[in-house]
Amino acid sequence: MEIFKTKAELQFFMGKHREEGGQVALVPTMGALHQGHIALIEEARQAAPLVVCSIFVNPTQFNDPKDLAKYPRPIENDISLLQQAGCDVLFMPSEAEMYPADEAYWHIDLGDLDRTWEGEKRPGHFQGVTQIVYKLFRLVEPDIACFGQKDFQQVMVIQRLVHIKRLPIHIMICPTVRNSKGLALSSRNSRLSAKGKEKALALYRALLFIKEHKHDLPMDTLRRGAFDILVQEGELTVEYLAICESSSLLEVSHLESGKDYVALVAAWVEGVRLIDNMILN
Ligand code: PAJ
Repeated sequence: MEIFKTKAELQFFMGKHREEGGQVALVPTMGALHQGHIALIEEARQAAPLVVCSIFVNPTQFNDPKDLAKYPRPIENDISLLQQAGCDVLFMPSEAEMYPADEAYWHIDLGDLDRTWEGEKRPGHFQGVTQIVYKLFRLVEPDIACFGQKDFQQVMVIQRLVHIKRLPIHIMICPTVRNSKGLALSSRNSRLSAKGKEKALALYRALLFIKEHKHDLPMDTLRRGAFDILVQEGELTVEYLAICESSSLLEVSHLESGKDYVALVAAWVEGVRLIDNMILN
């Protein structure tokens, strides 16, 4: 696996690859890799002959400085996981490399995506995400980029970015990878105790409850039941729990046949903020 720390080295390598006519798949990450990330690398390998993974803990998308400071950075382990997974190129730039001091800040109009759910609870988060992902897209110029359904709203934000900037990049969405009990894998899980991980399972159980009972319970009972699982069983502090139309992420008061819905949840356990979602169709 080639490892590059500067844009110049990466661009030189990508230029040579492109001259040979090869397609490229990009997997952007913030490291502390787990099987969810590795599943994206494997999907990318199926999709293109050259797989580029980036590891960059992007400061502009952290609205909470403590979260940024505590973000795990086990780089040696990450490198060995990527090598085992057959990744071709790892790009791991410094902050100065990605955010030169003289660069102007730009804003991208994400509409309601910036004002609801993650957008509302983490002001500026999606602006930071689009900023770094757009930089990576322009550097790597991938044909395909892989993102996880785990971050449902983030995928919609990336699709909006691709649309607004008219980028010729196919966005592949990979299903959420969970542990054997159902907990969605997340780099932040490493900050939880064994008990915290048990409590966090309530996220999955609440989403499953909604999926299983969506046809036989009225909406308020459905929502209350899921909320009780989170608060009573999991002892979680809930930030939001919402049943939304998939295409708009607008919350709905009832479900209609023929439309696509998603349940979204964000909650705190042991000082760690976790998100999860489930497609209800
Ligand atoms: P990070 O949280 O490291 O996630 C990198 C990618 O892995 C994202 O597309 C995310 O949705 C996906 N992912 C995380 N957990 C997953 C799981 N359990 N199953 C499947 N996919 C999973 O998301 C980011 O980094 C950043 O915002 C980034 C896009 C890299 C921009 O900085």
